[in-house]
Amino acid sequence: MVSPRQGARQAAYQVRVAPTEADLCGDNLLWDSGKVASDALTCEYAGAVLRSRQRCFWTVRLWDEDEAAGEWASPAVWEMGLLEPSDWTARLIQPDLPEKPHSPRPCPLLRRDFRLKGNIARARLYVTAHGLYEARINGRRVGDEYFTPGWTTYDKCLQYQAYDVTALVREGDNALGAVLGDGWYRGRVSFLYLENVYGSRLALLAQLEVTYDDGSAQVVTSDATWRCATGPILASDIFDGETYDARLERPGWDEPGYDDRQWRRVFETPFSAKQLAAPIGPPVRKIEEVRPVAVIHTPAGETVFDMGQNMVGWVRLRTAGVRGTSVTLQFAEILDQQGNFYTKNLRLAKATDTFILEGRGQPETFEPRFTFHGFRYVKVAGLPDEATLDTLTGVVLHSDLAVTGAFSCSNGLVNQLFQNIMWTQRGNFLDVPTDCPQRDERMGWTADLQVFAPTACLNMDACAFLERWLRDLRLDQRGDGLVPLTVPDPFTRRWDTFRRSVRDMQQKGTLNTQAIWDRYMALYHLNRSEGWADAGIIVPWTLYVYYGDPRILEEQYDSMRAMFEYRRRQAGRITNLSRFRSALSRRETWEHLRYYSSGWYGFGDWLAPGDGMEGSIRKSRMFIPAAYLAFDALLMSKAAAALGRDDEAAAFREYYEHAREAFRYVHQDADGRLSPHRQTTYVLALAFDLLPVDERPRAAKTLADLVAAEGYKIGTGFLGTPYVCQVLTDYGYAEHAYRLLLNESANWLLQVRYGATTIWEHWDGIREDGSFQSARMLSFNHYAPGAVGAWLYHVVAGIRPDERAPGFAHIIVAPVPGGGLTHARAAYDSVRGRISSEWRLENGAFLLRAEIPANATATIVVPEAYRGAVVMDGRDVRLTNGALEVGGGQYELRCEPASAAA
Ligand code: BGC
Repeated sequence: MVSPRQGARQAAYQVRVAPTEADLCGDNLLWDSGKVASDALTCEYAGAVLRSRQRCFWTVRLWDEDEAAGEWASPAVWEMGLLEPSDWTARLIQPDLPEKPHSPRPCPLLRRDFRLKGNIARARLYVTAHGLYEARINGRRVGDEYFTPGWTTYDKCLQYQAYDVTALVREGDNALGAVLGDGWYRGRVSFLYLENVYGSRLALLAQLEVTYDDGSAQVVTSDATWRCATGPILASDIFDGETYDARLERPGWDEPGYDDRQWRRVFETPFSAKQLAAPIGPPVRKIEEVRPVAVIHTPAGETVFDMGQNMVGWVRLRTAGVRGTSVTLQFAEILDQQGNFYTKNLRLAKATDTFILEGRGQPETFEPRFTFHGFRYVKVAGLPDEATLDTLTGVVLHSDLAVTGAFSCSNGLVNQLFQNIMWTQRGNFLDVPTDCPQRDERMGWTADLQVFAPTACLNMDACAFLERWLRDLRLDQRGDGLVPLTVPDPFTRRWDTFRRSVRDMQQKGTLNTQAIWDRYMALYHLNRSEGWADAGIIVPWTLYVYYGDPRILEEQYDSMRAMFEYRRRQAGRITNLSRFRSALSRRETWEHLRYYSSGWYGFGDWLAPGDGMEGSIRKSRMFIPAAYLAFDALLMSKAAAALGRDDEAAAFREYYEHAREAFRYVHQDADGRLSPHRQTTYVLALAFDLLPVDERPRAAKTLADLVAAEGYKIGTGFLGTPYVCQVLTDYGYAEHAYRLLLNESANWLLQVRYGATTIWEHWDGIREDGSFQSARMLSFNHYAPGAVGAWLYHVVAGIRPDERAPGFAHIIVAPVPGGGLTHARAAYDSVRGRISSEWRLENGAFLLRAEIPANATATIVVPEAYRGAVVMDGRDVRLTNGALEVGGGQYELRCEPASAAA
């Protein structure tokens, strides 16, 4: 609903769905909701049963608060996919190409010719693969999606894509083909650098359905009549890169009439169409191109392109040279202290593309297809012509999410930080939300996402993208309820995976005790890490708060509850009694231990400054499990209440009360001091409301003192960071939060000062002396510490959701100026429409301009220091508890300093 009128609201809606656009105005409707008195933004289709392939046109109209009906919206359309396994007549086919184990496997081409009659009304291609595919019809690429069919838990769910290919087919002779790549299916996956995780053979499933004007249909499917051959892609791997030999191109292979008699056969292989699923989230696309900013000749004598931005995707190379010239591109995020190309932090990922020229006498252009790199620098070797800024073009690829958020303020470094957060999300929202995009990792780590989710939901419309991830989370969840460390979970068969990775290391000669131990720890002991698996509860709740759709909670509820039950069963098993000896000497404590959780292993407050990896793991068992147990119970009670499950909500609430008491008994001493006496302990205790109301101010003060005593240097790791600034602000220490934010010699702005264009994994990824952190864990594109982004929106600019009215039905506009900033603004395209908040300090007054979408309400909270005379839109207004209640519309406030009123 859009309206310039202040206070405009939706009183009712009506939705109509019809088989054709013309039918929308007639009686031949699939569904007419009738007039429904509601301000809801979503409604569920409840009309005639829909069939596979059916097209549905729909429109909606609204009534406002004066019962005035609006116009019918211009019609939109959706099309049903293939709903029944029996809709699939295509056979899954595997190329019959010889492959040697442990040597690069060329990407197969598969093809067939077919004839069509005239008068084609429409054509659809339904297609998927084991591996990645690029489908081709009559010499052209089908669609603009990349990394299809996407990374899911393939044995349980394999996505297929549906393309409108009406414009690609024609009367007479046609050809349908596909190139397959190893991708996640059988290429290198995870920090274990495993291959063949889901299977060792590539396969294609394609079904082209052509409908003629007279309603008759013709179907062309993958089957044993197809032919296959290898092509120019000699090797392709997400971690290692691609090798392309243009001399091996097969011109015309994807066009009709190509002579494929020398090609090899394909095999049909058994397969159940039951696991096929339509994609939920947006596809990966090419989003943007980046021009290099410099060509550098490094001290080591290498030629390196600087893209000016740490980005994710690949580069397009344009060069001319003699036949057989081999050009190698290697990708890196950073140059070392001497200014040399640095790749140690990529660990085993080779991140190398090789292009071999055909030598056509004119420039040739190369782009890989089935790999991606996280890089700012590209080292080029073997270039036959001079390296210029036109030699390479960066191609940014990621899931095509609409950008919904914008932020800026009077501090340029903070603005750069915001851009870095955005770029880090872009780089890591590539089909799956990943920890990092460059080294041999790139996995859907659960904690990284749960801490970053609020920022992600503000920056971009992440709803469908994350719903899809949650579907995979449900599928990967263990029978006992535990959510895996990463989703998708390539470790599902743990023992097998472990053995395979050890064997792999043996073959590569990288076997050592440390490596084996790391793997063993990760697969067997760390998998119940608190803060990681809990994403199964936290992420659905976050989506509900930001997007307001209760179906997300409905769909996830059983999974959330199963995860909680897992934690509950773990509680009471104290693994480390000696640590708590003093606390446990109190008799009452024993009564609470049933609700207390401690873990021997857990990633803990991952990478808190000074802790390093081992430190995080060691220190975590102290309090993180107990804090998360309580937090999980709290969120469960909120989710249950939102779904009207009041009894369950009450039971979870009661559990929460016990769990937080247990936390307190063990971790708080008589003086209110928490153990361990570290920033994150106080941050989580306050963020999760673990302390009684009257004790919170004291804890907040202790936290503020701790932060100040530590020189406003951040003390939090992955789990504390998302909350530290928020908690400080909530308890009246906004200036402390600003000093953390604005500290240029540590924390977020240090990296900005060092020229970072994305967020670093470590606070001290580059140390003061210019040296790097250990290359074992050194990513420069890791969104978890960028979780402060939510605070920029919520507090600095002042746009906050209200979880009691999710989806921004009620908005809290509460900017808290500080840190010497003179202005700040954020705009957020919420599900209800544009919200913006923009403030500036002018002649001692605080000026605020706020925009609230129609059909929403807002509480505008005036900063405490400016609660003197307040004028809104030219009229004097009185604040209630420092705030004003408003409806949709634009508002301009001028607030004089509080002292001026006195
Ligand atoms: C990843 C993380 C992840 C962590 C688990 C790392 O290798 O990059 O971001 O959460 O492992 O502790």
